[in-house]
Amino acid sequence: MQLSTETFESKMKMFQLVIIMNRMFEVLQALFVVICLGFWNKNNAEGNQKYYVNSPACQMPAVNPFTWDTMRGFHRKKMRHCHNDSDMVTSEFDFETHQYRLHIHEHLAKPILKTKGKATIKCEYREISRDNFVKKPDNTYKELRVRTFKNHQIVPKNTNFMITKCYVKDAKNHQQLLQKDAISFIEDRLPKKKVKDFVKQQSVDPKPSVFIMGLDSTSRINLRRAMPSVFKFVSKPGWFEMQGYNKVGDNTFPNLLALLTGDSEEGVKHFCDVKKPGCLDSLNFIWKRFKHANYTTAFAEDCQAISTFNYLKPGFIKQPTDYYLRPLLLAIEKQFKVTNDYGYPYCVGRHLSFSYVWDFGQQFIDRFLGRSPMFGMIWSNSFTHDHFEGATALESLFLKYLKSFEESNLFGKSIVILMSDHGHRYNTLRLASTGYYEERMPMMFIYLPLWFRRKYPHLAKNLKTNQNRLSSNYDMYMTLLHLLHLDKKSVADFPDNLKARQCKSCQSLFLELPFNRTCQMAGIQEKWCCCQPTETVTNAHYVEDIAKAIVQQMNDHLISHDLSDLCHDFTLESVEKADRKTILSSGFKPADKDEHVYIISFKTVPKNPLFEATVRWNSRTQKLKYINVEDLSRLSSYKNDANCINQKNAKKYCICKDSLDKPSED
Ligand SMILES: *[C@@H]1O[C@H](CO)[C@@H](O)[C@H](O)[C@H]1NC(C)=O
Ligand SMILES: *[C@@H]1O[C@H](CO)[C@@H](O)[C@H](O)[C@H]1NC(C)=O
Ligand SMILES: *[C@@H]1O[C@H](CO)[C@@H](O)[C@H](O)[C@H]1NC(C)=O
Repeated sequence: MQLSTETFESKMKMFQLVIIMNRMFEVLQALFVVICLGFWNKNNAEGNQKYYVNSPACQMPAVNPFTWDTMRGFHRKKMRHCHNDSDMVTSEFDFETHQYRLHIHEHLAKPILKTKGKATIKCEYREISRDNFVKKPDNTYKELRVRTFKNHQIVPKNTNFMITKCYVKDAKNHQQLLQKDAISFIEDRLPKKKVKDFVKQQSVDPKPSVFIMGLDSTSRINLRRAMPSVFKFVSKPGWFEMQGYNKVGDNTFPNLLALLTGDSEEGVKHFCDVKKPGCLDSLNFIWKRFKHANYTTAFAEDCQAISTFNYLKPGFIKQPTDYYLRPLLLAIEKQFKVTNDYGYPYCVGRHLSFSYVWDFGQQFIDRFLGRSPMFGMIWSNSFTHDHFEGATALESLFLKYLKSFEESNLFGKSIVILMSDHGHRYNTLRLASTGYYEERMPMMFIYLPLWFRRKYPHLAKNLKTNQNRLSSNYDMYMTLLHLLHLDKKSVADFPDNLKARQCKSCQSLFLELPFNRTCQMAGIQEKWCCCQPTETVTNAHYVEDIAKAIVQQMNDHLISHDLSDLCHDFTLESVEKADRKTILSSGFKPADKDEHVYIISFKTVPKNPLFEATVRWNSRTQKLKYINVEDLSRLSSYKNDANCINQKNAKKYCICKDSLDKPSED
C-alpha cells in the first residue's frame, strides 16, 4: 500500500508525538484511520464508485466508513468494569446428575472474618421466576421466600433464576452484607429418549441449530469503523455478509417484527393491535415454528425498559421461548444498583447489563448444543443503542464471547447470525454526509457450518450470489423458515402459509434472488430504499417550493389530528440539503415522467427543529404527493420540545407551545 508523502509526513509527526506525549493508543488509532483512508482511496482510485449492489434496478453504494466527517470526532472508548472483587457464589452444572450446584468461596471472606473474631459466613438466596398469573407477566416477576444454602448444595429442579446474598455473621449475630449477585440456570428438561433420538438422527440427517446475535443500531459501516477485530472475525471462511441488506422500518420494532414474524408494523394492524395484551402472542413468531419442529428455544434482551416487544407495548402474555431471561432482568434492574453509560443501564449490580444476556447465551449453547436442535436469540442495546462509540468499548469483550462460543463448538453445529436492526438514526453519524445510508444499512452476517456447506453446496452458492443482491428483513424470515424445510428446492415450492405475510415476493436467501430486484419486490418502502443514487440539488430554484409544500402538509396534519392546541404551527426557516433520486433504467419508475423522489432536510421556526422528508414532487404540476407526516424523520433531539405529548410518533413533529421559553437541545 502506498501512502502519499503528505500522509507519510503526518505519520512521522505522529510517531514523534508518541515519544513526546506517550499517548500511543490514540496515535495508533489515528494511524489506523489514515491507513484505512489510504486503503479506501486506493481502492477507489480511478474514481470507481464501489457498490454493495449494482444492477440496472438497484445501485447501493459501498459507503466509506472512514470519511473525515465521521472520523473527526471519533474516539475509542475504554470498557468500564463493574466490579473488582471475586464471585462469592458460583454455580456449576453437574453433568452426572444433570443438576446445578452452588459453590460458596468462603476463603474470599477470610480477611474480613479475621477482623471479626468468631464470625461465620451465611449465604441465602431467593428464587426469581416469571409470574404467569398477572395480566402482563412481562412487566413483573415473582420472588420466592429466602432460603439459606451451604457450599456445594444442589439447586432444586425448575429453578430458573436466583438472587444470592452472603453475609458475615459475628458472635453477637450481627449481619453484614458481603456480596449480592444474580444467577441464571438453564436446566436440561429433555427426556433421555429425546436426546438419544436426536443424537441418532444427527448422524444420519443433521439439523442445523440457529443462533442469532444482535447489536442494536449497528450499521455494517459502523462495525467496520468501530469493531475492526469483530469485522475480521465475521469475514472468515464460512461467513456471508449480506451487503445488500436494507432495513424496512424506522426503529427496532418494525425491523425485528419483519424478521421474526414476516409482518410489517402497518400490516399487523389487520390482525390485532400490538398495544393490546395477547396480540404479539398471536403472531407467527419464527421461534414458534422452531419449537414445533422440536427445537429448544431461548430469547434474551438487555435494558428491560426499551426491550423490543416491551417498549410502549405489553410484551408477551405466554412465555415466548423455552428459556427467557426477562424476569431476572426486571428483578436485577429493580434490586441492584444500576449505573448508566452510553445512555442506558450499563452496570447492574456486579455485572454489565450486556453480560447477563451473553452469559445466558453461553449457558444455552453449553446445555443444548449436540443434545437438541436449538434456536437462540440474544440481543443487546446497552452499548450501542444511543452512542456509536459504545461499540469501541465493547469490541474486545464482544470478540471474547465470539471466541468462547467458538470454543463451545457453536460454529461446528449451527447457523450463526450477527445482525442489527438499523444503523444510527440521530446525531453525529446521521448528520454526516453518509448518514442517509448509515441509518438504512444494518449489519447482517450469516455463518454456515462446514458440514452444511458440504451437504447443501447449492444453498451456499446462492447465499454467496445473494450477498450483493438487494435483500430485506422479510427475506431473512424466509431464510430461517427455509432451514425447517430444507427439502424445498425453489421459490415456487413455498406454499402461501410458508411465506412472509407482508411480502409475498420475498424469499429465502438460500435461493437465488432476482438480479434486477427492486425495493418494492423486497418489501422496502421508498423512504428506506438505498437503491437509487442521489444527486444533490440543494441550490435548485424549485427546492424551496417543495419544502414549503411539505411544511404546509405538516400544518394541515396538526389541524386534522387536533394537535394545534398543543403544538405550534411550522414556518420554513431554511433548506439544509436536497437530494434527488436518480431513476434507474430497470428500477422503480413513477407513472409521470415529471415526478421525482427528493430527500429534503430542512429547519422550521420556532425552535429550529431539523426534519428530513422523502417526498415525490411533480415539476410540471408543481404538486407534492401526499406525505404521511408520521413518517418524517426528526434529525435533531426533541427532548425539550415535546413534553406536552405522549404519543411516540407525534413527539417527532410536535413543538409544544408550552416549551417555547425553554431552550432547544442540539
Ligand atoms: C477497580 O479498581 C480500580 C483501581 O484499583 C478502581 O479505579 C476502580 O474504581 C475499581 N472499580 C470498581 C467497580 O470498584
Ligand atoms: C418431534 O418429536 C416427536 C417425538 O420425539 C416426533 O414424533 C415428531 O415427529 C418430531 N417432529 C418433528 C417435526 O421432527
Ligand atoms: C436487468 O435489466 C436490464 C435492463 O433492463 C436487462 O438488460 C437485463 O437483461 C436484466 N437482467 C436480468 C437478469 O433480468
